[in-house]
Amino acid sequence: MKSGVFISLEGIEGAGKTTVLKSIQTELQVPDRQIIYTREPGGTPIAERIRTLLTAHENKNMLPMTELLMMYASRNEHIQTIIKPALERGDIVISDRFVDASYAYQGAGRHIPEPILETLDQWVIESCMPDLTICLTAPVELCLERVYSRGNQDRFDEESASFFVATQLGYQQRAKDDPTRIRLIDSSKNPEAVSANVMTCIHDMIKAKSKKR
Ligand SMILES: Nc1ncnc2c1ncn2[C@@H]1O[C@H](COP(=O)(O)OP(=O)(O)O)[C@@H](O)[C@H]1O
Ligand SMILES: [Mg+2]
Repeated sequence: MKSGVFISLEGIEGAGKTTVLKSIQTELQVPDRQIIYTREPGGTPIAERIRTLLTAHENKNMLPMTELLMMYASRNEHIQTIIKPALERGDIVISDRFVDASYAYQGAGRHIPEPILETLDQWVIESCMPDLTICLTAPVELCLERVYSRGNQDRFDEESASFFVATQLGYQQRAKDDPTRIRLIDSSKNPEAVSANVMTCIHDMIKAKSKKR
């Protein structure tokens, strides 16, 4: 029986995930619990090598199914070697992206049918779902302006506005289907306001889970 707390952070490119994560890293302190910061794709040496393949600009012609299977290969390494052991120790795991990203990007964005993702979930995720998922949302044009001013970092940053409209709709649909776990947070506000809202959600979840221990 897991006793840790698993939190994932989601949103399209430029939504502000990395920015929020930096402020969580400076602000979040929980007595008696270790906090593990990690990311997908990646999070382990093997999964980071898969990330390099997934994000390389020269792999722009990768087939959607190849992309999906590599995401799940990376996720399998991440869950088995990092997330599950940490949750069993009672740690707090905070991941920059997790399974909802596959539904948004490879599902809604690249049109892979959901039953395929659900089948992979049965094999790879099992019951290892986040307790809380924070999904940052802001108008797509604003997110793309931010990516433009930050500079493209990888293959996904080069996708079209219409791809990100579909991807964001995918996230919003996931949130509608699972409103207790997934919290949509408006990230068009200033970084301090966004972080404050995210911190409130995280503190509430940690408090709720700690009562159950
Ligand atoms: N709330 C915000 N207001 C204004 N600019 C932001 C905000 N959040 C992030 N940014 C800027 O937008 C760019 C993309 O943010 P980032 O955190 O890298 O997004 P993501 O990790 O979701 O792709 C960065 O240059 C960052 O400084
Ligand atoms: Mg980021």
